[in-house]
Amino acid sequence: MDRLLFSSCNIGNMTLKNRIVRSATYEGACDAEGYPGISYSRIYKTLAMNEVGMIITGFAFVSKAGRAMQTRQAGIDKPEKIEYFKKVTDEIHKYGCRIVMQIAHTGRQTLEKITNSAPLSSTTKPSLYFRQKPRLITEEETEEIIGQFAESAYLAKEAGFDGVQLHAAHGYLLHQFLLPETNILKNRFGIDKKTGLGTALPGEVFDAVKARCGDSFPVLVKISGDHNLPGNFFPDKFDNLIRFLNEKRFDAIEISYGTMDYALNIFRGDINLDKVFTYNPMFRTDSKLMKTVSGLFLKKLIISRFIKFAPAYNLRYAERAKKLTDIPVISVGGFRNKNEIESAIKNNSADLIALSRPFICEPDLAKKFMEAPGDYESQCKNCNDCVFMCDSGRVTTCYSKK
Ligand SMILES: Cc1cc2nc3c(=O)[nH]c(=O)nc-3n(C[C@H](O)[C@H](O)[C@H](O)COP(=O)(O)O)c2cc1C
Repeated sequence: MDRLLFSSCNIGNMTLKNRIVRSATYEGACDAEGYPGISYSRIYKTLAMNEVGMIITGFAFVSKAGRAMQTRQAGIDKPEKIEYFKKVTDEIHKYGCRIVMQIAHTGRQTLEKITNSAPLSSTTKPSLYFRQKPRLITEEETEEIIGQFAESAYLAKEAGFDGVQLHAAHGYLLHQFLLPETNILKNRFGIDKKTGLGTALPGEVFDAVKARCGDSFPVLVKISGDHNLPGNFFPDKFDNLIRFLNEKRFDAIEISYGTMDYALNIFRGDINLDKVFTYNPMFRTDSKLMKTVSGLFLKKLIISRFIKFAPAYNLRYAERAKKLTDIPVISVGGFRNKNEIESAIKNNSADLIALSRPFICEPDLAKKFMEAPGDYESQCKNCNDCVFMCDSGRVTTCYSKK
């Protein structure tokens, strides 16, 4: 057993038993109001029993206006939910595992029929993927959202979560504010000339959460190391973002990639067009002919336009961040075997490693890593069926494991 991978470490004043993190993964296991169901609890209990050091939940909405298009998303928007989430966290803590709730507002990355109003954003440009025209958010509405993040974090704390992670990656609202490509605001939440970034919203959310929950309550953040929008981000703006997060003293920084405009670049790997055409509200079609014919040539075309899967595909961002901050850095994306993970930590490229799809495929993967005398390779083949089935209303699971 590798001592470093299974050595304890700290995020703020929270101690983790090892450096293996389950990255935020939409569960599809809540009711229409965002209350957790039995499957939600089961997913987390299984991971906790099997040696995961810290679980980060799937994104939970802070308000109905910030809901995702997936109908079974968790929500942490009212005190009535505390007792239901508390049952989950109590169970997890029995196994010495930590659980952090990811809290999010979708901004323009949702559907009007879900939020019952035009999605709010720092831009009026629709996202390429969601194709909904957002309404430009006012200063007062932005302040209201800061309050919602703080209140949600407080509810999460009351429900026994060990911390919260602000979702500022993958093109969701905090990420929209950060980037000049998606922030045209002229008020204090606009783009700062010095850094080229709109850091005021994530910064004020951080302050409000700490003020509401206490300084010692861990506030983590998930960011994207780069994106495929027209302007440049990496390395200059990326460095500025890390310096900003470092100055604020976020408790940990997880680094992923991209926005939903080019969704497959977040995940990388295969695409199942049949599932997309069957379940995704943006691309649904009943035409069998369309499904078969386009499936034949479209798939090749689509895949050729996205970045190919490679092991540890976001590690270079973590490596760069580590040179700019002493805050724990978590790398996520493409970690599939134990040797790879151990080297990333040994080489000081990241402090912790997070995985998503491999844990859907094998919820006992951390235990397998721990018990394997040598290397162990995840059975996940990046077919991404778990991703495309998020739109089906079913509980997130692996569709290709035999
Ligand atoms: C089914 C599924 C749901 C996901 N849901 C979320 C989410 O709620 N929040 C988030 O930040 N990332 C989400 N992700 C992205 C993962 O956290 C991770 O960044 C990405 O899958 C790359 O890691 P991997 O190669 O280990 O899967 C999701 C990924 C999958 C496969």
